[in-house]
Amino acid sequence: MNQERISAFETGALVVRQELPVETGLFKDAMRHLAGAVSVITVGRGSDRSGFTATSVSSLAIDPPSLVVCLNRVSSSWQVLQRHGSFCVNVLAHDQQHVADSFAGRGGLKGVERYQDAQWQELATGTLALADALTVFDCELDDVIERHSHAILVGKVRAITLRQQVEPLLYWHGAYRHITKER
Ligand SMILES: Cc1cc2nc3c(=O)[nH]c(=O)nc-3n(C[C@H](O)[C@H](O)[C@H](O)COP(=O)(O)O)c2cc1C
Repeated sequence: MNQERISAFETGALVVRQELPVETGLFKDAMRHLAGAVSVITVGRGSDRSGFTATSVSSLAIDPPSLVVCLNRVSSSWQVLQRHGSFCVNVLAHDQQHVADSFAGRGGLKGVERYQDAQWQELATGTLALADALTVFDCELDDVIERHSHAILVGKVRAITLRQQVEPLLYWHGAYRHITKER
């Protein structure tokens, strides 16, 4: 296998290039550079509910309106999602970090406990949507592609709620971030 590691200083920054096989640590370091919006994906109904914090949300197509989310199949949300066939993507506003923490399982919160510190409403699919999220995409599970540790969830968007002029919560280099005004 052709393996090469080149380090160089260019304009003061260390540049590392690695060809196959790429080390996991280097891949993780590189992925930390992707600034992302933070969403909470809600799944399930009644007492059979869970959900997870995610940065892996991406638009798929405009017609039909559809998106993708990547879910680790060891997550509690995976089994719940398969039982109910729908999910909500709740894109978080700048002041909703506590919701992100709950759905990342911080403090040991599980299942329905993750919903306790926020207001929820039911949209078209019956999955709960965060009442004051920046945007909510209420999705029917259209397809699942299982690859490696994860499942790529394809969601067909059934309903949307949208709050205008509210800033997002971001994640970058392992920490939550906010948009700062230009100086
Ligand atoms: C900022 C952030 C982004 C995350 N993005 C994802 C993601 O895209 N997909 C995923 O499966 N897990 C992601 N996670 C991890 C899950 O939120 C976490 O593993 C999950 O809530 C644990 O679920 P469980 O206790 O129900 O198994 C992310 C966590 C954080 C803090």
